[in-house]
Amino acid sequence: MDRMDAVEGLAKRRGFIFPGSDIYGGLANSWDYGPLGAELKKNIKDEWWKRFVRQRTDMVGIDAALIMNPKVWEASGHVKQFSDPLVECKKCHERFRADQAGEACPSCGGGFGPARQFNLMFKTFLGSTEEAKNQAYLRGELAQAMFVDFPAVLQSMRRRLPFGIASQGKVFRNEITPGNFIFRTREFDLMEFEYFCAENEWERHFEYWLVEMKEWLTHCGVDAKNVYFHEIEDGERAHYSKRTVDIEYEYPFGRKELYGLAYRTDFDLKNHMESSGQDMRYMDPETGEKFVPHVVEPTFGLDRTVLVSMLEAYAEEKLEAKKSKSERDDEADDTRIVMKFPKWMAPYKVAVLPLSKKKEIADIAEPLYAELRRGMMCDYDETQSIGKRYRRQDEIGTPYCVTIDFDTEKDGCVTVRDRDSMAQERVAIEGLADLLLKKLSV
Ligand code: GAP
Repeated sequence: MDRMDAVEGLAKRRGFIFPGSDIYGGLANSWDYGPLGAELKKNIKDEWWKRFVRQRTDMVGIDAALIMNPKVWEASGHVKQFSDPLVECKKCHERFRADQAGEACPSCGGGFGPARQFNLMFKTFLGSTEEAKNQAYLRGELAQAMFVDFPAVLQSMRRRLPFGIASQGKVFRNEITPGNFIFRTREFDLMEFEYFCAENEWERHFEYWLVEMKEWLTHCGVDAKNVYFHEIEDGERAHYSKRTVDIEYEYPFGRKELYGLAYRTDFDLKNHMESSGQDMRYMDPETGEKFVPHVVEPTFGLDRTVLVSMLEAYAEEKLEAKKSKSERDDEADDTRIVMKFPKWMAPYKVAVLPLSKKKEIADIAEPLYAELRRGMMCDYDETQSIGKRYRRQDEIGTPYCVTIDFDTEKDGCVTVRDRDSMAQERVAIEGLADLLLKKLSV
């Protein structure tokens, strides 16, 4: 089976990602994160925020409104230039992105009319009347709020260049051809920051952030051999960028964009300064010089991070015949599917597995589950054979399973089983929470 199909199947089967509005026949290319997907996505979001905002002294975060004054999108160039070339089939009238369409219509073989630009901004109306004066846009990128709020952040936080403003959240684009599961959708989550610096420093920061983005991917468990850096040519870049490197990934459906790094110059701040009449300049406290900062922008698609993390984590492993009997569901079952997420990313950190439902075992397992849950995300599973239960936890990437058996009452010990090595060790219940937290932190 294709890796993409395998991951998509697992995502639906095991509560990571479901088709949106499914009971009404779905809505094409819309997806809902289920209980495990929501945990996975939140872990990535929180880790990114910790790494790039909280642990740094040169970054602050904001959480801005999704709908902004439409003048923002006029000044930023999005109303005029945020578009993709579109072609329409002359026969069946289906529409495609011109750069992906080929010579003939993939649906009916018909010819295409001339390409025209299709604006990707989602329009909406504010208030009760659908008049032109009430028209607004759902944000197409996070960046604009970080530019518009630049003077307020500067004033309230007393920052010195270089520093960054970070943000996370939903953006909306009326994509012509969404598809490939959560790769291209019309609403998606972004994590990005605008890094403000003096003009003569942008190249140094650009190189620095390229390395940081690469290291973040390694931290997410992505093998560097599947990652490519693609310098975007003149004429191919977004309207605001003077240099862009796309960080691409070798997906099962081809090599395509994962993240982007752009040098946005002073384009946005300058445009907002002209349009709003507000001073967007920074004053160097040492020289007293006032100037509009330049910007390097690393952008990370969150849904694409989820997709790539799942593709990388997915493994099918043959079990050796000599493996402990508890690892095998039955004699015929000699492979396991395991999601080898980095531990910090895994939805559940630990699963508590009482060997039987008998009262003497439940009396130990239930309080232990309650205690562990205070410090880490835990699952509890008491049904079917222990082999089946290990297999279920492997499939959702739980790093550790804790089994309570008939000896536990006598020796006060449980078996801790490691997801990746499948090694089992007998450890005391006392101090177990601390031990697991320690194991989870490496
Ligand atoms: N502020 C810069 C910006 O928005 P972008 O390259 O247009 O740059 C940023 O988008 C990232 O968003 C991409 O690198 C990709 O990870 C993700 N992305 C873009 N379009 C997407 C879509 N339709 N569905 C899911 N993710 C998308």
